[in-house]
Amino acid sequence: MSRTVYVNGEYLPEEDAKISIFDRGFLMADGVYEVTSVLEGKLVDYEGHKVRLARSLSELDMAMPATEDEILEIHRELVRLNDVVEGGVYLQITRGAPADRDFAFPDPDVTPSSLVMFTQSKPGLAATPSEGIKVISIPDVRWGRRDIKTVQLLYPSMGKMMAKAAGAADAWMVEDGLVTEGTSNNAYIVKGRKIITRELSNDILSGITRAAVLRFAKEAQMEVEERGFSIEEAQDADEAFVTSATTFVLPVVSIDDAQIGDGKPGEVALRLREIYLEESLKAGI
Ligand code: PDD
Repeated sequence: MSRTVYVNGEYLPEEDAKISIFDRGFLMADGVYEVTSVLEGKLVDYEGHKVRLARSLSELDMAMPATEDEILEIHRELVRLNDVVEGGVYLQITRGAPADRDFAFPDPDVTPSSLVMFTQSKPGLAATPSEGIKVISIPDVRWGRRDIKTVQLLYPSMGKMMAKAAGAADAWMVEDGLVTEGTSNNAYIVKGRKIITRELSNDILSGITRAAVLRFAKEAQMEVEERGFSIEEAQDADEAFVTSATTFVLPVVSIDDAQIGDGKPGEVALRLREIYLEESLKAGI
């Protein structure tokens, strides 16, 4: 059975969902997105994704194509229609489809922004990982507004391919000697039980999972330091991990082939994953 997806006001079977070839998301990567995870059929951290979406749109002067209530309702309806128990909801808003290709933004009164949403089922998403992942380091050559969650994901995709070619699962990007983030996640190390992660700025995405995990860590009396770190410091750390809406808290066990700690998922990372899942389920909507 095919998925039911949402395109500009309509719920459709995925094979009938269509977007214009003039859509600026397609031609110019002129669009933003959010991925909200679903656990036990509930939306996780929805409020954070909603707020970040509004900010991404506002930074790009792009109109919100539906009300907040409508967008929440579409999320819920898609989860219900597709029987998603564990997985996620992908949302994308682009600057719509003007009559022709043009670098200048179209008049929003003439060209409304476009909204597409679909679900992805991932049974077993919340299971405890038996192994951590390996990462490699690559230079961060992305644009300077990584705080905006745009659909310009070519370099992150290339990073994943470089990782794959090296027998790793992901790449940590490095700029001026310091790790910015993973290709689709925020990066952390643990040293003497202190959790270290890069401070927020235009250089990284303000992860919704990051915000929740740091809050839970502080509530659990763990020490948190927000600052950049190098690959060498990370290789010498006791633990490393990444966070995102699709991986929650995922241990990293090697960086550029150097084993981290004892090479097994770290205690702090696994504890944070447990707390995050427990609290997110309680607060899920
Ligand atoms: N990626 N940094 C980058 C570059 C990301 O693409 C993501 C999320 C994160 C983590 O943000 P959050 O905790 O809000 O998911 C950090 C999503 C999951 C994706 O592109 O699929």
